[in-house]
Amino acid sequence: MNTINRQQVVRTYRAYAPIYDWTFGAVLGPGRRAMTRLTAAMAPKSVLEIGIGTGLSLFDYPASSRVVGIDLSEEMLEHARKRSASLPDRDITLRYMDAEKMDFPDHSFDCVTLPYVLSVTPNPAQLVAEARRVCRKNGVIIVLNHFSGSRFWWFLEQAVRSLADRVGFRSDFTYEQHILAHDWKVESVTPVNIFGLSRLVVIRNV
Ligand SMILES: C[S@@+](CC[C@H](N)C(=O)[O-])C[C@H]1O[C@@H](n2cnc3c(N)ncnc32)[C@H](O)[C@@H]1O
Repeated sequence: MNTINRQQVVRTYRAYAPIYDWTFGAVLGPGRRAMTRLTAAMAPKSVLEIGIGTGLSLFDYPASSRVVGIDLSEEMLEHARKRSASLPDRDITLRYMDAEKMDFPDHSFDCVTLPYVLSVTPNPAQLVAEARRVCRKNGVIIVLNHFSGSRFWWFLEQAVRSLADRVGFRSDFTYEQHILAHDWKVESVTPVNIFGLSRLVVIRNV
């Protein structure tokens, strides 16, 4: 697996922040909306989005939920803060925080979402451990990500394989290693986005 360090994440998303919504907004939008639809159906009291970025999902989380978003990039968070300011009636908190070392107490959230962040963070296994710690027992963790091995996206995966530190995500990222290897309970897996680019994985935090 290609390595990415924390400085590279900060640097990459500082550069992406002004153009992120144009480049990754619409193309990854169907996956985000599928994720927030699922979240809405569960009506959780509290939701934590890890790697909230520019806050593209903020409008679509249930209005009744307390939503907390964290990110390592101040520049991405700045956009999320503007979005949040346009939703004054909603209970939204945005914080600068490393998801691999969160300062929330254990079992703080009913639902934890990880949209397009697991293949971006320096140590995905550490992020999973932290997501499980802050999610309540029997709560739900939703992972939305591209996993390698799809025949259709093979060329793209090869093209960006050695560029993880510069493009800001890993393309050699397997479902087996990053989802199946954990002793949590996978409840559903749905292909989303154009030609099944990403998978939406619903996990019970047993
Ligand atoms: C590809 S963007 C996804 C943004 C948003 N979730 C979306 O749906 O578009 C990944 C985001 O995760 C953040 N990120 C990466 N590693 C992180 C970590 N360890 N802790 C917090 N945020 C992290 C990046 O700064 C970036 O804003």
